[in-house]
Amino acid sequence: MKQKAIIFGVTGQDGSYLAELLLDKGYYVIGVSRRTSTPNTSRIDHLFGKDSFVLESGDVLDFSSVYNILWKHNADEVYNLAAQSHVGISFKQPAATWDITAKGCLNILEGVVKLSKKPRFYQASSSEMFGDTFSEDANGNKFQNETTKFNPQSPYAIAKLAAHNLTELYRKTHGLHASCGILFNHESERRGENFVTKKISSYVASLKKFFDEADNLGIEDETLFQNYIKDASPKLSLGNLRACRDWGHAKDYVRAMWLMLQQEEPDTYVIATGETHSVKNFLEDSFACIGITDYDAFIKTDKNQFRPSEVPYLKGDYSKAKEKLGWNPEISFEDLVSTMVQYDIARLTNDKQPTYSVQ
Ligand code: NAP
Ligand code: GDD
Repeated sequence: MKQKAIIFGVTGQDGSYLAELLLDKGYYVIGVSRRTSTPNTSRIDHLFGKDSFVLESGDVLDFSSVYNILWKHNADEVYNLAAQSHVGISFKQPAATWDITAKGCLNILEGVVKLSKKPRFYQASSSEMFGDTFSEDANGNKFQNETTKFNPQSPYAIAKLAAHNLTELYRKTHGLHASCGILFNHESERRGENFVTKKISSYVASLKKFFDEADNLGIEDETLFQNYIKDASPKLSLGNLRACRDWGHAKDYVRAMWLMLQQEEPDTYVIATGETHSVKNFLEDSFACIGITDYDAFIKTDKNQFRPSEVPYLKGDYSKAKEKLGWNPEISFEDLVSTMVQYDIARLTNDKQPTYSVQ
């Protein structure tokens, strides 16, 4: 018999990669998506028509829809990836963020404990929960691991910490096989458009297109051409460039989710690359992909993109996942940046809406 897995949040970046991973492993996958007024399935459209994939309509805010799906499918594994996952937006919509991200998790946990056969459960916890804290090694190097104190700095992070604590509590008090992955930032070609990495890679691609078109305008005078570039090129508005993040590729991270649920005992694991880069580093490497080193003229500071409180520094120590799960990240920061930029260039060059390959 095929293993069955339910994915809440299947239409998101991670949900789409996880669905592909599980299908490749021979699972029957039930994806859950909420009702939206415009289509939200572009990341998983290529999965429709597969015998082992089905999409159910459900909303984590609605306990009865959650429970009915859990009861109907009697799955072996349940992954909760559903969230209002944008930190900046969580300051503007704190209640919605709380309901989806914290109460949504509770609804799934409550549904799971009511089942006679209890599936294994994965909760998408976040490095945002650390907020402004870190641990230090003997040489003064800063990092976060499973023992670092949490000090969340946004409504999103507080909601995630509530869901994290609930999952660990249900593990203890209900004996659930419930694991939490404290995942550090992970990106991909499928990243949502309003996260900083995707903003940058999409912008760099549009700038390359602008340059290609400018070359064909026939402006022969170099000064006129440079003035044209300066005045007419699109500009990128960004906030804090100093924040440091530990950025990996989502494909590596969904593999870790699956590995957690294959362990005999449930547990909590940090998943990261062990490297940190500033937003400025990401910008520099992205511009370098199109041969630009001096990018100041293309960047504008947007006060609205600064957060009321910031997470200044994230760098994960994934030693526990390495030792217990045998997990290592395989895609480097440099490959992540160039893959995202090249993907967006191809997308614009072909003048196509985003399409996502199965790989
Ligand atoms: P994402 O692209 O924003 O996906 C979030 C998913 O949640 C989408 O499928 C979304 O559906 C769904 N969702 C939102 N509200 C819902 C509701 N009321 N009912 C059912 N589904 C709902 O996020 P992601 O980057 O894939 O991240 C996956 C999970 O990992 C999230 O919980 C995120 O907070 C967490 N996380 C992410 C990172 C990261 O760096 N990517 C790091 C740590 C933790 P729609 O498509 O309809 O919006
Ligand atoms: N989004 C965004 N837009 N961020 C910007 C911008 C901008 O224009 N300019 C600067 N930043 C800075 C933010 O202030 C933050 O310090 C950093 O870029 C990264 O922002 P995001 O890409 O929005 O990601 P995040 O780190 O806040 O949150 C992501 O990672 C978390 C794990 O640490 C999300 O995926 C969360 O869902 C996830 O839990």
